Amino acid sequence: MSDETLSNLLTEDRRFEPPADLAAAANLTAEAYDRAAADPEGFWAEQADRLTWDTRWDQVLDWSNPPFSKWFVGGRLNAAYNCVDRHVEAGRGDKVAIHWIGEPAGDTRDITYAELKDEVSRAANALIDLGVATGDRVAIYLPMIPEAIVAMLACARIGAPHTVVFGGFSSDALASRLTDCQAKVVITADGGYRRGAASALKPAVDEARAKTAATGFEVEKVLVVRRTGQDLGEQGWDDAVDVWWHDVVDGASPEHTPEAFDAEHPLYVMYTSGTTGKPKGILHTTGGYLVGCAYTHWAVFDLKPETDVYWCTADVGWVTGHSYIVYGPLANGVTQVLYEGTPETPEKGRWWQIIEDLKVSIFYTAPTAIRSFMKQGREIPDRRDMSSLRILGSVGEPINPEAYVWYRHVIGGDRTPVVDTWWQTETGSIMISPLPGVTHGKPGSAMIPIPGVSAEVVDEEGTPVPNGSGGYLVLTQPWPSMLRTIWGDDQRYVDTYWSRFRKQGYYFAGDGSKKDSDGDLWVLGRVDDVMNVSGHRLSTTEIESALVSHPKVAEAAVVGAKDEDTGQAVCAFVILRDEFRDEADDAGEGSDIVAELRGHVRKEIGPIATPRQIMIVPELPKTRSGKIMRRLLRDVAEHREIGDVTTLADSSVMELISQGLSGGSSDD
Ligand code: WTA
Repeated sequence: MSDETLSNLLTEDRRFEPPADLAAAANLTAEAYDRAAADPEGFWAEQADRLTWDTRWDQVLDWSNPPFSKWFVGGRLNAAYNCVDRHVEAGRGDKVAIHWIGEPAGDTRDITYAELKDEVSRAANALIDLGVATGDRVAIYLPMIPEAIVAMLACARIGAPHTVVFGGFSSDALASRLTDCQAKVVITADGGYRRGAASALKPAVDEARAKTAATGFEVEKVLVVRRTGQDLGEQGWDDAVDVWWHDVVDGASPEHTPEAFDAEHPLYVMYTSGTTGKPKGILHTTGGYLVGCAYTHWAVFDLKPETDVYWCTADVGWVTGHSYIVYGPLANGVTQVLYEGTPETPEKGRWWQIIEDLKVSIFYTAPTAIRSFMKQGREIPDRRDMSSLRILGSVGEPINPEAYVWYRHVIGGDRTPVVDTWWQTETGSIMISPLPGVTHGKPGSAMIPIPGVSAEVVDEEGTPVPNGSGGYLVLTQPWPSMLRTIWGDDQRYVDTYWSRFRKQGYYFAGDGSKKDSDGDLWVLGRVDDVMNVSGHRLSTTEIESALVSHPKVAEAAVVGAKDEDTGQAVCAFVILRDEFRDEADDAGEGSDIVAELRGHVRKEIGPIATPRQIMIVPELPKTRSGKIMRRLLRDVAEHREIGDVTTLADSSVMELISQGLSGGSSDD
């Protein structure tokens, strides 16, 4: 919660009213807020009717055993049927579901709903042939290619929960996830295109398999999409395990009758960072999750499925890709864009070109991307005609007012509302956001909970704070797309999210927030040991464990420091083992030891976790009970005056750290 955010908050008086034409045809109107508040279950039942149920539910919510909820009790449905088949049955089979654009220029594929149905059915049949049964877990480790969506829906179709692991994660990160959810099959590709080059994926799966095998867990099959055609090497293929996608999926039958599953049947597990080193497997189930995605995608983006062309730039490896590329948009039957690569490839402005070419009308991206475009200058987007855009969305981290206004002005031509959407892996779908045709927007504020959702900002005691004050952001009522538990660890679920405000029964997932003088919410960032780097959640402990696993490292402390481009950046403080202490003498930014440690974190977790800065220090600031005082390290990392040191066990430590740094630290 930096001073800058607070001062912005104090001075922000810009308001953007909904455009008249949008307001006139808005999907929801202002009355929805009161209606939903008066009868939340009735409201959610109404939203559940967006889906096609095989068997209707008997009870909307069973909250008799909090915090374990059941939604749409007794209802049965198939998620893949809802995302694909029903649109074909309704006569919309020829409609494009996915305009896919590969990173290499000219590499494109349009997939209609009818084609998607056939492909998902083939993949479902192939998975069954590989031995996947209802309830088995399937891991998906793919680039942004249509097969990623097909694989997810094929799993959903046969009731095999998927766990998608972001393709940028390393083999270690993959291995720990495979083991935690005991994935029977992994779906991957030889590689994918990133920044103009083919980058391998399959070798990481091989490494991860070797690692899980060492702990006694064997993945049975690896299904491999040929994307780049790159050489897998001598060791790169194991006939007993590896199977080409084109060998088993292409020839499979396109007929597959979807089975209806219980509304509470597990749909997927998505791993996310928590305050301890071990990632949490967030479990989402079928009915409530799909209701949440379909409703919010329709309401928050004011979706007109017949005419809109929608594009969410997230990776399917994150929850945003799950809810707002796969389940929400496809349940709503919209046409969407899926892009494989980075915004700069082959040239800056690729995204704007795609918007112009495909006449994208709804665009959903992250503040970190917006800030990087601001830096490049408006000449690049100005070269394109983006008049097709009518709504812009932002997600993943607080969007600073300057970026919000730039986004609205330069990308949206001042016509488009910006919806700043707050939600989390755990919430499954958007919780707090303006409604573009109903409420005004205010740069920097996520505004108020959407109809059906109840949020508050409370103090330590759980008492709501008055307007103009800050506190903890909580959700006060259950909601259909809420996580059901942490995979295999109910107690951790209770402890992590429901213990802080147990008395009130509030859900708390670690964000601080302010209520401004109008009562609108400003999410200020995490209050726990979780960082948000470019909209990606990383745990400080996880990176510390990675650092400490390096043979030269004795101790490590990681903090998130404010960063102009990425929101927060990883800053690490490292104490070397005695026998390597001489390497600390010249341990500036370009030094071997810093490069070595950076490389180590990249290998252990993945490039997104690479520290921006590693400072080799002689000591770490600790309290008498041995707890590292990250607050002080954050002061150092953010170049502030060091705060109160009176609770330090040894108050000279900060001086030692500052002295040690004056020679060696970088100043980026
Ligand atoms: C942050 C991503 C401010 C927040 C969907 C949250 C935001 C975490 C916003 C969840 C927003 C997400 N304004 N902060 N609009 N959206 N966050 O699980 O700290 O990857 O707790 O889900 O991102 O990250 P996750």
